[in-house]
Amino acid sequence: IVVTCGSTEAMMASLTSVINPGDKVVIFSPFYENYGADTILSGAEPIYVPLVPPDFCFDKEALENAFKQGAKAMILCNPSNPCGKVFTREELEFIAELAIQYDAYVVTDEVYEHIVYAPHKHIYLNTLPGMRERTIVCNSLSKTYSITGWRLGYVIACPRIIDRVKKVHDFLTVGASAPLQIAAVTGLEFDDDYYKELQEHYTHMKEIFVGGLRKLGYRLTEPQGSYFVMVDVSEFGVKDDYKFCEWMIKNVGVAAVPGSSFFREKVDNLVRFHFAKKDETLKEALKRLSTLREKALAAKNVDWK
Ligand SMILES: Cc1ncc(COP(=O)(O)O)c(C=O)c1O
Repeated sequence: IVVTCGSTEAMMASLTSVINPGDKVVIFSPFYENYGADTILSGAEPIYVPLVPPDFCFDKEALENAFKQGAKAMILCNPSNPCGKVFTREELEFIAELAIQYDAYVVTDEVYEHIVYAPHKHIYLNTLPGMRERTIVCNSLSKTYSITGWRLGYVIACPRIIDRVKKVHDFLTVGASAPLQIAAVTGLEFDDDYYKELQEHYTHMKEIFVGGLRKLGYRLTEPQGSYFVMVDVSEFGVKDDYKFCEWMIKNVGVAAVPGSSFFREKVDNLVRFHFAKKDETLKEALKRLSTLREKALAAKNVDWK
């Protein structure tokens, strides 16, 4: 294990430890923005494989074709930001099979490991047969202990790889802040009740916000994990999701991230909300969003239609 400056540095240190210039890296799309940039900064070329909305499943053949192109590694965000997908055992077994068959590493980003909604369960890829040696886990204390600004992350990998990650990490940042590491030990010593309460707390927020959006009749993909929800806004005739999100901030008073910022493919009918907020904030957001449909359908001369 190596403690890093957030899971973002964990990812960069991991990729640069196993990637050589010219290598290829498989990334599911939609993806957390850093993966494409980190891959390119490591000198590699990303190969994107779609997770297809609304259920964000992948085509097995498309994934195998990506590995067949000589991929040295794959990046897997599980549970996924932005789409809230929690990969099933069967999906993970398929990814593991490909990684073994094509002799590739899988760099996982598991920062939402403890924010998973029943009946879904987070399965650690490195626990599958043959995967301990080829999985590099990037994780963070940000989400689990609600310290997103602290930028404390870590990498778990087998000794052969972690020795390399240590060297890269030393040259990238020297070390994560020592006083913060000491403070974070308090969180690491929490017992199981803490993680149970965390799940209950996020389930409560999800029920308020996602349940509220459903009641308002919005089309969405139920998140299985993380605190994000992707909402389909095609009913309003959205052609430019960036401009739509700007318009929504000004005219409805609620912010969302344009879905297209996460996709490699052309997808402009989705927006991503996050619901890690106080009850009253979520309720106020829903109140405002109850006016969205009427305002969006009536909107004339807007630059997003
Ligand atoms: C998928 C994912 N990975 C990494 C991070 C960054 O985590 P950290 O705070 O450890 O830098 C985030 C936070 O937004 C995230 O959503």
